[in-house]
Amino acid sequence: SDSRVSYIRNSVTKIADYPKPGIIFRDITSTLADVRALTYVLDIFSERYQRSGITQIAGIEARGFIFAAALADRLQTGVTLIRKPGKLPRAVHQQSYSLEYGEDTLELHRDALGATDKVLLIDDLLATGGTMQAAAKLVSQCGATISEAAFLIELSGLQGRQRIAQAGVSTYAICEYD
Ligand code: PRP
Ligand code: HPA
Repeated sequence: SDSRVSYIRNSVTKIADYPKPGIIFRDITSTLADVRALTYVLDIFSERYQRSGITQIAGIEARGFIFAAALADRLQTGVTLIRKPGKLPRAVHQQSYSLEYGEDTLELHRDALGATDKVLLIDDLLATGGTMQAAAKLVSQCGATISEAAFLIELSGLQGRQRIAQAGVSTYAICEYD
């Protein structure tokens, strides 16, 4: 429907058998490097979230930070960092989540957000949803309201959207792949 979405979709590079045989990796570095694609991404997110009362955009390390910072400049909000363990210097909330093999943890400063915040969560790509589900729990632990979870790409075959919904959060993605 939106020709900008087709342009963005074609800007993503497809890499077979990375990082393992049988996996098709969707690489967004080519989208970031294409000023037309990057502008369309920010235009689409801005159109969706302007006048929505968002006070903070929370980006997930590492690629989520890029979109959080750029969109915050467009929407005139602050940026909040959701990070891998041991990176944030003050008191944190922590959430562990399961991966295909083993588990990982995300952290958020306890004083980063409060009850008056309306937060947009953002990341580059949705796969299983474990990362975003943990991020949503961290934002909720701070007492803030979540607007939505936003992605450039959704790998829809992995049911990540359903996992995020278990945390009571709705998902928006610009492009979808099976
Ligand atoms: C990727 C991606 C998301 C997450 C999605 O990050 O950027 O954050 O995986 O996976 P999930 O939906 O199955 O949880 P990665 O862990 O590769 O970290 P990076 O951005 O620091 O490279
Ligand atoms: N691309 C980038 N990051 C990812 C992917 C992918 O295809 N799958 C899980 N994390």
